[in-house]
Amino acid sequence: MTSEPDGSHGRPSHDGAKPDSALVVEHLTKRFAERVAYEDVSFDVGYGEVFGFLGPNGAGKTTTVRTLGTLVAPTSGSATIVGIPLSAESGPAIRARISIMPESPGLYLRLTVAENLECFARLYELRDVRGRIDRVLQAVNLTERASDVCGALSKGLRQRVALARALLSDPEVLFLDEPTSGLDPVATRDVHGLLDALRARGVTIVLTTHRLEEAERLCHRVAILNTTLRLVGRPDELRAQLFSRNLEVRTRTQLDEPGRVFDGLAHVEGWEQSPTGSYVLNVTDPDAAAPGIARALVAANADILSVAESHHSLEDVYLEVVDEDVEAKR
Ligand SMILES: Nc1ncnc2c1ncn2[C@@H]1O[C@H](COP(=O)(O)OP(=O)(O)OP(=O)(O)O)[C@@H](O)[C@H]1O
Ligand SMILES: [Mg+2]
Repeated sequence: MTSEPDGSHGRPSHDGAKPDSALVVEHLTKRFAERVAYEDVSFDVGYGEVFGFLGPNGAGKTTTVRTLGTLVAPTSGSATIVGIPLSAESGPAIRARISIMPESPGLYLRLTVAENLECFARLYELRDVRGRIDRVLQAVNLTERASDVCGALSKGLRQRVALARALLSDPEVLFLDEPTSGLDPVATRDVHGLLDALRARGVTIVLTTHRLEEAERLCHRVAILNTTLRLVGRPDELRAQLFSRNLEVRTRTQLDEPGRVFDGLAHVEGWEQSPTGSYVLNVTDPDAAAPGIARALVAANADILSVAESHHSLEDVYLEVVDEDVEAKR
């Protein structure tokens, strides 16, 4: 690992692994007796990438994170983490380079923030415990609360202490399991700000979340897991892959003969009127189609209010892919 003067990580190259991949996961499966937690999962994550894991309850997100974090052994398949093949023997070497922020913060509630961090720093056998604690407290803006007992902190602040704890070892890859679960909008925004700062420093982040807008805002790419991996890609790629492209035309008054305006236009494959009265045109390429549509509307004496691409959210993509209650069926 190379460490830049500002504390950011360079892009190390490891023999035998793709130099740009912090994680390479191939056909990984985990079963607990007869129950399949996840199956045949393959993906890779580049250094410095923020990779989101979405999926319903019981989809296997936490178990995947625990497997890659060397806390549970996979049933089959392989993975390479920061260039180190995952095995029973390589656990300590991998754990020295990564960190996990689990679903529940797991703090000693009777100890203060600083005592908790000290306790974990000693457990991880880290050097320069004082300096590290100061740095992580600063990173999560908790310096002022170092002497507060953790049991007296709000959920949002406890989550920040848990993040500080995960940062103690200056990890190259940080796994965050639902870091904003149960937090109010302000606390969520604070955690997002902290993650932005980590992202800017080049820390590789694997984030599980049920908040689709969070994945959309923070992640370079997202994976949708529902026991098997359903989709992986940038949010905009997933939208384009799943949905045809549409232009929505709004006019001040209804068109007398919309078919005469829209039928046969270049790049327009079909159209329909929406319940709100606008016209939704199915197009092959919105940029190529829009000028011709505008000209046709003007020629028909229509008062155009807008011609705009209609966007699907990541939520639409998610619902298209994950439409069943997997957990209750098992
Ligand atoms: N230690 C375990 N023993 C037996 N089954 C387990 C164990 N851990 C997880 N499972 C099962 O594996 C499946 C995946 O669970 P997991 O916790 O990974 O899902 P998840 O995607 O993180 O869900 P959530 O969104 O609710 O956190 C579930 O059916 C769960 O019951
Ligand atoms: Mg989970």
